[in-house]
Amino acid sequence: MPASQIESNNLEDRPSIIKLTNISFSYPGSKTRVLDCLNLDIRTGDRIGMMAPNGSGKTTLLHTIMGLCKPEEGGIEVLGSPMKTEKDFTRIRSRVGLLFQDSDDQLFCPTVLDDVAFGPLNLGYSRHQAIDASRNILKNLGIEEFEQSVTHRLSGGQKRLVALAAVLAMSPAILLLDEPTAGLDTAVKEKLIHILKNLDITYFVISHEFDFLSAVTDRVYSMDSGKILTDDEIHVHHHEHIHKHGKHPHVHK
Ligand SMILES: Nc1ncnc2c1ncn2[C@@H]1O[C@H](COP(=O)(O)OP(=O)(O)OP(=O)(O)O)[C@@H](O)[C@H]1O
Ligand SMILES: [Mg+2]
Repeated sequence: MPASQIESNNLEDRPSIIKLTNISFSYPGSKTRVLDCLNLDIRTGDRIGMMAPNGSGKTTLLHTIMGLCKPEEGGIEVLGSPMKTEKDFTRIRSRVGLLFQDSDDQLFCPTVLDDVAFGPLNLGYSRHQAIDASRNILKNLGIEEFEQSVTHRLSGGQKRLVALAAVLAMSPAILLLDEPTAGLDTAVKEKLIHILKNLDITYFVISHEFDFLSAVTDRVYSMDSGKILTDDEIHVHHHEHIHKHGKHPHVHK
C-alpha cells in the first residue's frame, strides 16, 4: 500500500492544535529520514491513536512536535502559532503535555508530590496552589497514597501514573501520550481507559495495543516510510479463522 498523506484541506471547522507541514528529519550523522515530508493536523476534540512498528518514528514525531528534534525541512504550528525558535517552543511546552515513553525521562524530583507540583510551580502557581492542584490530580488518578513516596522507588506502572499526573497538572491543551499502557497491568489499564474517556481534552496516543486504542480513540493512524497513514489507508481488524493447528500457538504469515 503506498504511503499517503493526510489531506490538508480538512473539512472540519475545529481549530488546529498541532499542524505539521512537510516535515523531514534525520538524526545527526544518519542519512535515513525518520520523518519524510510528513503532514499531520490535530484539531480540538480529536482523539487520535497511532499504531506502527517499532522504529517507524513515532517517538521522533512527538519529540519533533515538542521542539526536541529539529526538522531539516517543513513547518510546525502549535495552537495556531508557527514554531521557529527555541523561545517559541519554550512558550508552548506547558500547553502540550508529552507523556514520555520512558517515565524516568519525565520524573526527577525526590517525591511524587514534588514531581507533580513542579509544572504548576513553573507556571507561576504559589506553593499552596501547586500542592492543592497536584493533590487533586493524584486523587483523580487514585494514587493519592503515593504523595510522599520516593518517585524512583515506585514500580514502572506506578511511575507511569505519576508521570501522567505531572503532565495533567499543567492543564495542557493537548496530551501526547507515548505508549501510556506499557508495563501496566489489566486493572491499571482499565483505570487509564476510564480516565482518558472522562477527560475533556484533545489527545494523540501511541500504542501497540489495539484494544486500548479502540477504547480511547476515534481513529487510528499508522506510520510508514516517515509518513503518516490515515485510517482511510489502514484497516486493523480481527477475524475468526479455522485451521488444522487447533489450540497450539501459531503464527500467521
Ligand atoms: N537519539 C537517536 N539517535 C539516532 N537514531 C535514533 C535516535 N532515536 C531514535 N533513532 C532511530 O530513529 C528511528 C525511529 O525511532 P523512534 O524511537 O522514533 O521509533 P518508534 O516508532 O518510537 O519505535 P518504538 O515503537 O520502538 O518506540 C529508529 O530507526 C531509531 O533507531
Ligand atoms: Mg517510541
